[in-house]
Amino acid sequence: MAASNPFVYGEIVSADAFADRDSERERLTRDLASGQKVFLISPRRYGKSSLVRDVLRGLARRNILTVEVTVAASSSYVGFLESYARALVAADTPVSRLRRWTADLLRDARPEVRFDAKSSGDGGFSLAFPAVRTPRDAARLAADVYALPGKIAAARKQPLAIALDEFQAITAFDGDTAEQSLRAAVQDQRGVGYVFAGSEPSLMERMVSPKRPFYKAGPVMRLQKIEPDVFAVWLEGRFKASGMKPEEGLGAAIVDLAGNVPYDVQRLAHEAWDDLHEQGRRVATLDDLHATLTRLLNEQHTVYEEAWQRHTLAQRGVLRALVLEDGREMLSGDVRTKHRLGGTSSVQAALAALVKQDVVMKDGAVYVVTDSLYREWVARKTF
Ligand SMILES: Nc1ncnc2c1ncn2[C@@H]1O[C@H](COP(=O)(O)OP(=O)(O)O)[C@@H](O)[C@H]1O
Ligand SMILES: [Mg+2]
Repeated sequence: MAASNPFVYGEIVSADAFADRDSERERLTRDLASGQKVFLISPRRYGKSSLVRDVLRGLARRNILTVEVTVAASSSYVGFLESYARALVAADTPVSRLRRWTADLLRDARPEVRFDAKSSGDGGFSLAFPAVRTPRDAARLAADVYALPGKIAAARKQPLAIALDEFQAITAFDGDTAEQSLRAAVQDQRGVGYVFAGSEPSLMERMVSPKRPFYKAGPVMRLQKIEPDVFAVWLEGRFKASGMKPEEGLGAAIVDLAGNVPYDVQRLAHEAWDDLHEQGRRVATLDDLHATLTRLLNEQHTVYEEAWQRHTLAQRGVLRALVLEDGREMLSGDVRTKHRLGGTSSVQAALAALVKQDVVMKDGAVYVVTDSLYREWVARKTF
């Protein structure tokens, strides 16, 4: 029997492809079950959605009604309200009861309910609010939709747990008023736990700062990277379980090359495993890992070349220095002289631009290249 690849990336990972996160899982489960409003913050690809999905599954087994919506998937505020309302009324509701249930819950908003195979979601059920034309209509609709979880919890005599993923996107829809009206609604809903998960730490942190509606709304969880040693052991365990013996240090090397970002770690492990599997190999060495890395860099060469050419010269210089210096002391005289970077203000401007383009992130006091493969490409292919 051909073993299947034990490493998964690019989708939400299920519990068996999940490393660590025990304490985070317990805490989020406890908070949601007790109706807290939790902010979950980390950069992209750290594992927020996977963690949330896993926690919601556990809560559903305890007869808590769960609802999950990705805010950033909507292209407008009304579009978001439609998809959120749809997810709420559809939660655990038999198709035969959907029409009545929707009408009962959302009488004032005059929803249009459609069933057809082409519309998204389970049972081809879609919800629209054609009567909404002006921002004022939208604000009124929002208040109705945000009140839904409380009504549903009361009507069904069941607690709810709601995940609004990529929540930072709400700021783009309707500025402060969307936040205000959501905050006002959720604080009265004792039987409803919320997790607001967001990928742009600076935006998310601002949302929970003083003077903003969600200030002190509930606990703030900042999801960190997985402990590198724990991740390395987990990787090696999965190589072994799939019939491949890892050379000593393989797990640590993967974690290191992937910048210890969970997505990048799983990508590199997955691709390495595939290459080995194809060759029918039973051992996985560090040389194999580097061969896979080289293949990946070659495959991405045009993409990265284009990315590189989009940077200004000053940005290229700073980016290359950042890679070579591991992102440390970027403004120091030593680094600037060694890499001929110019004055602090121009280095600062280049760093800010790279952060804004999401090419680089700030992790504490150091700068890191967001995509670990791009970092390797810059290190090897630029001068
Ligand atoms: N606990 C974990 N253990 C192993 N891999 C993980 C874990 N969490 C996330 N990943 C990897 O990272 C990828 C991105 O995770 P995701 O949950 O989508 O992150 P986020 O929502 O923070 O952007 C997943 O597809 C998976 O490969
Ligand atoms: Mg996510």
